[in-house]
Amino acid sequence: MCGIIGYVGTQNAVPIILDGLKRLEYRGYDSSGIAVMNNNGFDVVKQKGRLSELEALISQRPMSGYMGIGHTRWATHGKPSDINSHPHLGSQNKIAIVHNGIIENYRQIKERLEQKGTNFVSQTDSEVIAQLAEYYYNGDIVEAVIKTAGNLEGSYALGIMCLDEPDRLIAIKKDNPLIIGVADHGIFIASDVPAVLAHTNKVYYLNDKEIAVLTKTSVEFYNMDREPVHKEPETITWSIDSAEKGGYEHFMLKEIMEQPRVLKETVQSALGCGDNRRIIDGLDVSRFNRIVITACGSAYNAGMVSKYVFEQLCRITVEVELASEFRYKDPIVDCNTLVILVSQSGETADTIAAMREAKRKGAATLSIVNVVGSTIARESDYTLYTMAGPEIAVATTKAFSAQLVLLYILAVSFAKKLGKITKEAADNLFAEIASLPDIATGMLKRIDPVQKYAATCVGYKSIFFIGRNIDYAIAMEGSLKLKEISYIHSEAYAGGELKHGTISLIEDNTLVVAISCCERLYEKIYSNAEQVISRGAKVLFIGNCIKAVPGERLEIIELPKINELFAPSLSVVYLQLFSYYVAANKGLDIDKPRNLAKSVTVE
Ligand code: G6P
Repeated sequence: MCGIIGYVGTQNAVPIILDGLKRLEYRGYDSSGIAVMNNNGFDVVKQKGRLSELEALISQRPMSGYMGIGHTRWATHGKPSDINSHPHLGSQNKIAIVHNGIIENYRQIKERLEQKGTNFVSQTDSEVIAQLAEYYYNGDIVEAVIKTAGNLEGSYALGIMCLDEPDRLIAIKKDNPLIIGVADHGIFIASDVPAVLAHTNKVYYLNDKEIAVLTKTSVEFYNMDREPVHKEPETITWSIDSAEKGGYEHFMLKEIMEQPRVLKETVQSALGCGDNRRIIDGLDVSRFNRIVITACGSAYNAGMVSKYVFEQLCRITVEVELASEFRYKDPIVDCNTLVILVSQSGETADTIAAMREAKRKGAATLSIVNVVGSTIARESDYTLYTMAGPEIAVATTKAFSAQLVLLYILAVSFAKKLGKITKEAADNLFAEIASLPDIATGMLKRIDPVQKYAATCVGYKSIFFIGRNIDYAIAMEGSLKLKEISYIHSEAYAGGELKHGTISLIEDNTLVVAISCCERLYEKIYSNAEQVISRGAKVLFIGNCIKAVPGERLEIIELPKINELFAPSLSVVYLQLFSYYVAANKGLDIDKPRNLAKSVTVE
């Protein structure tokens, strides 16, 4: 987590860095800071709190420079405080750094330097980088950075400035993302593409242990032996508009509303003549006797939904594992296993580790990723891209929906290739998937009932979500969305499991959201609804096969009809909106919920 940005060029670095940090705030937002180089040396401002507070401070105490580095933090070592904020400087004030990652051996380095008389001021792991670089500095910052990196264990993406070399900005990374953007007025480093999109769409991706040396007009790359490395820039197709709120109050609402377009483009890329189609068509699935899907957070929930689709259509065992568990369980995978990694960012530390473990054991790896050029996209054997564009709100919506449709399409293609369904059946299923964007468009024109009902739900302490089969899987995502942004306690249960304990939590005026799109199981889920109503609960039924009539304790929100395997793509739209409006009515900071970060690049 944490976002870093750096700039060296002909314009004032301060507004450029502040704007870039705004676009990286999704990576962490408990403190922020900026250091610039100008003719008087370093000027540093950093403090605990949101970026808007840093901006206010800078507007009172203007600063400028032609080069600078900035940081937005998600604390791991040392609580959020002014002193623990980045940038960090060495004790001689010669070297300033911003860091995204975790230095695992920072205690040993700190003790070593303290014995040599270095005075540390923060509780962070990151400060050791600035101190160590100063310790090694002997007139050549690149050499000092190489020596410093050679001592660091853990993960890092670093921006480094040196007082004695005021023309150069240095960057290096290991296991955390860093891009270099080339604009006509200067060169950037950044954790992610949206931070530079306002200035350029030409970027280089830095590989692990590559060093970038930036000046106002050039960038050069080296390896740890200081040999030049040749790199080709890539052109990013995302537009800056896609990283703006576009008139919506929150990115989350904008991203929910973008889903029809995202679904359409993702479906097109996999069923039309896009790259995704080429990769799916080229996959030899006959060698796989098992599929393991591994991911974190919502991406894991997308995996859970797709398990029902794969198993139903392909009759092949699918296991869905949390990446943080998979990586440490000595997983049973081999060359006949397909491991599917699902990740919006492509940088989630646990998912990266799970991918590497799967590869080490000889499994084939296929990733479903949103961020082009991200670690998972580059390292997996096959990569399918979700066409969601930049997703800024911490709680994922459009990327989740895009993951789901790619998983559906994979499942149908596999079933066809394995001879489990006919070509005609596959084409019918593809046609249903292709109809999702238009159906979602219609749903998004009728959001009033969800908005109104959500407005009545702000007072609940706890809200349960239930469903059966694939409806249960999507209930998990509904519940996660709600707790992420509304801070209301929530859990998802399989309807049939209620009687085994959960029902004891139901009391007067508990809210239970029941999903019902599996028509063959309607009576079962309805009876679960009755069980909780008779114990005092209220029920919000969301589904497309509900026969009950609304009553004092029962509200119904209708969904359009669709094959039950693809219905989660519809239910989730109203579940997202439900969470959004509950949180909006509570007046919460929806795009940046407390304690969370969008891209979890640490364990
Ligand atoms: C964080 C985000 C979630 C996301 C999860 C996995 O927890 O808040 O929204 O689902 O990470 O992220 P990924 O980038 O791997 O999809």
